Amino acid sequence: MLDERWADRDARAVPQWTRRQAAGIRRTDETVAPIVYPPDEQTDRDLHIWDTWLLRNRDGSIAEIDGYRVILSLTAPAALLPGKRHDVATLRYFYSTDGRDWTCGGPVFEDGAAFGSRQWAGSALYDDGQLYFFYTAAGSRGEDELTYTQRIAVGSGGTITTDGDGLSITGPFDHEILLEPDGEHYEREAQSRGMIYTFRDPWFFEDPQTGETCLLFEANTPIPDPDREARFDVDRDALDFNGSVGVAVSPSGDPTEWELDAPLLEAVGTNQELERPHVIVQDGSYYLFISSHEHTFEPGLEGYDALYGFVADSLRGEYTPLNGSGLVVTNPADAPFQTYSWLAYPHREEILVSSFFNYYDLQGLSLDDVAHLPPAEQQRRFGGTLAPTLRLTANSDETRLLGALEHGHLPLPDEDLPRLLAEYVADTNDRTKTTYGDGDARR
Ligand code: FRU
Repeated sequence: MLDERWADRDARAVPQWTRRQAAGIRRTDETVAPIVYPPDEQTDRDLHIWDTWLLRNRDGSIAEIDGYRVILSLTAPAALLPGKRHDVATLRYFYSTDGRDWTCGGPVFEDGAAFGSRQWAGSALYDDGQLYFFYTAAGSRGEDELTYTQRIAVGSGGTITTDGDGLSITGPFDHEILLEPDGEHYEREAQSRGMIYTFRDPWFFEDPQTGETCLLFEANTPIPDPDREARFDVDRDALDFNGSVGVAVSPSGDPTEWELDAPLLEAVGTNQELERPHVIVQDGSYYLFISSHEHTFEPGLEGYDALYGFVADSLRGEYTPLNGSGLVVTNPADAPFQTYSWLAYPHREEILVSSFFNYYDLQGLSLDDVAHLPPAEQQRRFGGTLAPTLRLTANSDETRLLGALEHGHLPLPDEDLPRLLAEYVADTNDRTKTTYGDGDARR
């Protein structure tokens, strides 16, 4: 069955995020988020917190365990220079009864138990009382020098318990490597020609229309010989930028058994990293979201650190970029790196978008410049905590930002959101006032 699917996908080209589409990326009133200021209360001042995801049920809804909801975040000690955090990333869980105040329960896995010398982004499934923590195994366990090999892994088993005082997740977990790049549809490390390759960020998704059990991930398309590459209508040098969104399928539905399938989307010639891919299905439309950086666009293109999105009528449909270019949410021009690593989830007829508070008050510095600032200045300018959750609406192939909630506020679907102002004020300064002046969002 899978072979047939490969054949089908190979016969008709994988949808592309083309250069022409990406050339249309511009900040608009509908896509620019309000300025973010440091929160009064930070989730955990001892930790840098960045990529974050919710513990969800098989159908994608948020898991509720005796009144608690759970998030998983990549974390590192706050004393560490922010740029070094990826080298020691540790998966920690946080729980909350109100979706606003999050308590850190500790590391998810016991020391040294998981694959990789550190663990990068993933997703978390609670199914039939069983926990499945999908993650990226970066490098190899116990390595002396850091390597950047990436494999997709799971830690399953463990137990989740609650009492009056909180929630705890305890091991042991069974760790398994689930997927590695095949070299044909997904680039292996040895095939990458200079740029960092990616094979990471597994995202569990069960298709509500077909019942198919899938794992999406970030990858790159192999270009074995750029001089003999006829598949893509781009210049030779642009072929170095070869990001893709991959998918694996579990024919039995078992969350630990996966078979690679052909990519859902490629950005060959356009962008190198399509990070943390995930899908929301709303009104029969499949919205595929990814995060990407200004510096991972092919140099002839100008993009931003932003959430990008695509819409199709099925998981393997002909994705077209939302808002023409793909741009869905970005930071204001004068705070271009204030948030990153967006994650969208449905909330009634809206979509909520969480992210983390990244570098701010840079006054024109680039991310590369930041690394050359004195350590205290690097620390001062790094948020390292959850950003205000954004409210978004999608209508076919267009989206519009509606407003923002507080830092780290992740409501459940049965929670009413504050009433929206009749008009969403486009000017960033005005937005800032309306959004943060009275505590929570636009009233
Ligand atoms: C996005 C990201 C992910 C990766 C993680 C590593 O912020 O690059 O793709 O898993 O950060 O820290």
